[in-house]
Order: sequence, then C-alpha cells, then structure tokens
Amino acid sequence: MHTLSRMTGWLVLTFAFALPVGAQQTPAQKDLAKDQQQRTVNQPGNNSEVWRDVRSGQPNNTTVPGRETGVLVQAQARFPGQENMTTAGEAWRKFRNGPVTFYGGWLVILMCAIIGAIYYTRGPIKLHDKPTGRVIDRFSLAERWAHWVMGISFCVLSVSGLIILFGKHVLLPVLGYTLFAWLTALGKNLHNFVAPLFIVSLLVFIVMYLKDNLPEKGDATWLANGWKFFYGVHLSSGRFNAGEKVWFWVGVVVLCLIVSVSGLILLFPNFDQLRSTMQQASVVHAIAAILVIGFAIGHIYMGTIGVEGAYGNMRDGVTDETWAKEHHDMWYDDVKSGGAGVTTAAKSGAAPQTLH
Ligand code: HEM
Repeated sequence: MHTLSRMTGWLVLTFAFALPVGAQQTPAQKDLAKDQQQRTVNQPGNNSEVWRDVRSGQPNNTTVPGRETGVLVQAQARFPGQENMTTAGEAWRKFRNGPVTFYGGWLVILMCAIIGAIYYTRGPIKLHDKPTGRVIDRFSLAERWAHWVMGISFCVLSVSGLIILFGKHVLLPVLGYTLFAWLTALGKNLHNFVAPLFIVSLLVFIVMYLKDNLPEKGDATWLANGWKFFYGVHLSSGRFNAGEKVWFWVGVVVLCLIVSVSGLILLFPNFDQLRSTMQQASVVHAIAAILVIGFAIGHIYMGTIGVEGAYGNMRDGVTDETWAKEHHDMWYDDVKSGGAGVTTAAKSGAAPQTLH
C-alpha cells in the first residue's frame, strides 16, 4: 500500500508538476496541469485524470533517450476479433492467452489424434519386397548433420515453447508452483540459447536441400493421389516426393523462417523496436510455431515408426535398393544410370542395411 501510494505520488509529480516546468507547453497542457493540481486539493487521492493522461499513449517528457521511452503506457489498440479498444498491452495479452492458446492447443491435440488414428488403422507403411542387402547413398554426412542439428534443436525449441505457451494451463496444476517455476525458467533459457543454433542450421539446411526440392514432373499427380500412400500404393517420385516438398517449402522454408525472424525481434529487444512491433512479433511467432509443430509431428511420425526404413536412411545415410525403388523410383533410376552418386555396400564399405 505504502509503495503504491509512493508510486502514484511520483506519477503525479512527473505528469502534473514536472511537465509545466519542462519544455514549452500548449495552453491545453497548461489547463490540464492546473486541472490536475486543483483535483489533488478538491479530491485528494483521485488520480483518474493522471491515469487517463498516462493511458492516452501520448509521449511525455523524459530524459531517457530512445524511441517510445516517453510513453508510459501504450495507446489503445485492438487485435483481430476484439470488439473494444483497450491499451495495446492488454489487447495483446487477451489475444495471446485467448484465441492463440485455445486454437493452437486444439491444433496440436488434433494433429496427435490424426497421427494416432493413421497408425492404429493403417499401421506403418512397409516394403512390399524383401531388402536386397545392396545399399545406395541417400544422404551425405553434411546433409545428415544439417538435418539432425536442425531437427534436434527444433524439438528443444518446440518443447520449451509449448511449456511457455501452455504450461500455466496444463503443467502448473499437475506440478505445483515450485517445480513449474523451475521448469519454465529452464525452458525459457533453453529457448533463448538454442534458437540461434536452430536458425544457423536452418539456413544451411535450406541451401543444401533446395535443389532436390524444386518442383518436377509428376509432383501434381503425387499430390492429387498422396492419400493412397497410406494404403501402400506406390506413387512415382524423384529424390523427394511432393509431400516431402510441401513439408520443405511450407514447413521448413516459409514457417521456420517466419518463426526465426519473429523470434529474433523478440530475442533482441535492444534494436529500438516499438512495443507494438514486439507484440505483433510475439503473436506471429506463436501462430507460425504452432503450425510448423503440427507439421513436424506428422514428419517425425513418418520419419520414425510411420515408414519402414526411413529412419535408417537419415541415421546411416544409405538406403536399401528395394526402399529406393519402392519410394523414389525416378531417383533410383537416376542413381542406377549414374545420374546421382551411387555407392554399393561393397564400394562404400558399409554393412548391408537392416531396415529400422
Ligand atoms: C527429431 C525428429 C526427426 C526425425 C526422426 C526425422 C526423420 C527424418 C527422416 C528419416 C528423413 C529422411 C526421409 C527420406 O529418406 O526421404 C528426414 C528428412 C527430412 N527432414 Fe526430418 N526428422 C526429424 C525432425 C525434423 C525437423 C524438426 C525438421 C524441420 C524443421 C525436419 C525436416 C526434414 C526435411 C525437410 C527432410 C527432407 C525432405 C525434404 O527435403 O523434403 N526434420 N527426416
């Protein structure tokens, strides 16, 4: 109580008394200052005028250099779907804790449910023929490093980001304040320090994988029939099929770059960006992150238990000829005709692959 009244006192001093002695004042400002002085006599303790002035978002005088430093509370604003104007900070808080958290949470749950349903109804996609034991190169060492550094840092960012966004609703009631505070502080620090690693690996990854993700003949047919993939139907494709290309362009290039740029705006607030820029960046960051996490859940399923043999490709860098033929026939033909680097097990010295 004591602290509060001292703060209010300071505010009154700053806005009602410091202003008139400061720079040139307009007649309207003089009237306002007089009005406020009078009010402290007539209605001691009623600071509504001061607060109205504070909430107007108008810049006042300050000796602190920088953009917006003279604005104590931002002007009124409204985020999409909001009926009334409130101070921008409050509008942002309501939007972030309202629709973003609500629909975002349901999207992640829905994605997990769809993956679960596919797994329990269709099961993993298995090879039709037996593995030959002859392997061909699929990913170079550099490509695998780029993938795993990006993939693992992405997972750390996803888990810590989800804790920051939903933890208060989901984990706090289960863990209690002490453990939750500890976990969230850890999550926040991991998020801040792993993000730069993710961004660098993302850029390296995009450059390395770009060429083989360019559109090619047969992509449209693949997309139109993509659902048959889950029924074991083989669809003709090059090194990456059209589904993988959508993941690359929409998930990795567009969404991950949006997440990275908005994240950098939040991570380095020392570049004089306005509070409104940070609020918009925070909302864009959360929405893009949730969308790409939804996508990634599907990708991680396909890269582990969803498609027999896929995980081994990215772990060892080589794939069995049967896998190559059944999943990426055009690429296989290209490799066999000497178009792309081909290595047999004997040539590379790798042990015949067992499928994982
Ligand atoms: C940590 C869990 C992950 C696992 C187990 C995993 C697994 C795999 C596997 C097995 C492949 C090779 C598929 C093939 O041979 O065609 C692959 C490729 C790929 N992964 Fe992952 N991955 C993971 C995380 C990620 C994340 C988080 C991203 C993106 C942020 C990502 C992006 C890609 C891309 C773009 C490709 C190549 C396909 C293309 O270029 O279209 N992966 N992944």
